[in-house]
Amino acid sequence: MSLLPSWPEPIIRVQSLSKSGIRKIPHRFVKPPSDRPCNIMDITTTSINIPLIDLENLNSPNDSVRQETIDHISHVCREWGFFQVANHGISHELMEKTRAVWHEFFQLPLEEKQKFANLPMTYEGYGSRIGVEVGAKLDWCDYFFLHYLPQVLKDENKRPCLPVSCRKVISEYGEKMVKLSRRLIKILSIGLGLNEDYVHKSFGGDGESSACLRVNFYPKCPQPDLTLGLSPHSDPGGITILLPDTDISGLQIRRGNNWLTVNPIPNAFIVNIGDQIQVLSNAIYKSVEHRVIVNSNKERLSLAFFYNPGGRALIKPADELVTKDCPALYSPMTFNEYRSFIRTKGPSGKSQIESHKSPR
Ligand code: OGA
Ligand code: NI
Repeated sequence: MSLLPSWPEPIIRVQSLSKSGIRKIPHRFVKPPSDRPCNIMDITTTSINIPLIDLENLNSPNDSVRQETIDHISHVCREWGFFQVANHGISHELMEKTRAVWHEFFQLPLEEKQKFANLPMTYEGYGSRIGVEVGAKLDWCDYFFLHYLPQVLKDENKRPCLPVSCRKVISEYGEKMVKLSRRLIKILSIGLGLNEDYVHKSFGGDGESSACLRVNFYPKCPQPDLTLGLSPHSDPGGITILLPDTDISGLQIRRGNNWLTVNPIPNAFIVNIGDQIQVLSNAIYKSVEHRVIVNSNKERLSLAFFYNPGGRALIKPADELVTKDCPALYSPMTFNEYRSFIRTKGPSGKSQIESHKSPR
């Protein structure tokens, strides 16, 4: 990976900017008119409920209830690339506790958070930009990024030590999320007609698969119509399980030419397909473009848990899904190589997965 050892420009902490009481956002955050959230010339913004799946049905003694649930998930992965899950087995108390410790972390004085300031080599820690291009437009967001898996990348010392319960809660949350992710990738494998451990094995299995968390913090923004919390992108990895604040929306997904605002359902998670599953499924499952809008009266926090292939895993369309009529759409690429694109250029819509298509 050809990533820089340090950020090419001084880092601007968005939360500090927001707190300073400015009425106008700096030009570095002002998006060109075509990228602004309110460019409604041919784009209408509507709020929607994305499909909700009750995971409890996967434990039903009734075969047909289980099969219907698998079919429903498979259908939404083809049609939406996004769905919400309820009765996922993670206690509402743990969800609430985890959100609360992260809200507390972001309220700490800047010096405390600066102890964990991150670098573009690994992105681990407290950060304020994705991408290293000099002069790039910036997003209205600070974040904290940490690794859970593989074990060799896990480092408790790189996790916040305040609030005091933080490390314990972060670990407990990670453990549960890895289990949920593994349950979901099994269902995705079955839904594609593959062996149930196909995705797990392709990602490198127990020892190599990776899992990480990015906690996004979107401060209040005095001019929310000029910028974005997170620019359009598709997630580069396997699957993402998002836990957003529920009293405020912000996530938008693209459907055709429309940006639809997702209504988060309390106590549910939002799951979306990443580029690696699109590649592995030979584009049967869709990694859908999404972005985040901000607002002037309330800050918003979201926990994006990414379950990904190991860095050295070579991801390619499953042989079983490649036929004469549906030739392989993508050539094999390691996840490390694939991910270096977004880490260098920042969020760029679906341009990477599009450019990764094999020549025909
Ligand atoms: C992400 C993401 C959405 C949100 O972190 O990749 O898309 O609502 N987050 O914060
Ligand atoms: Ni995303």
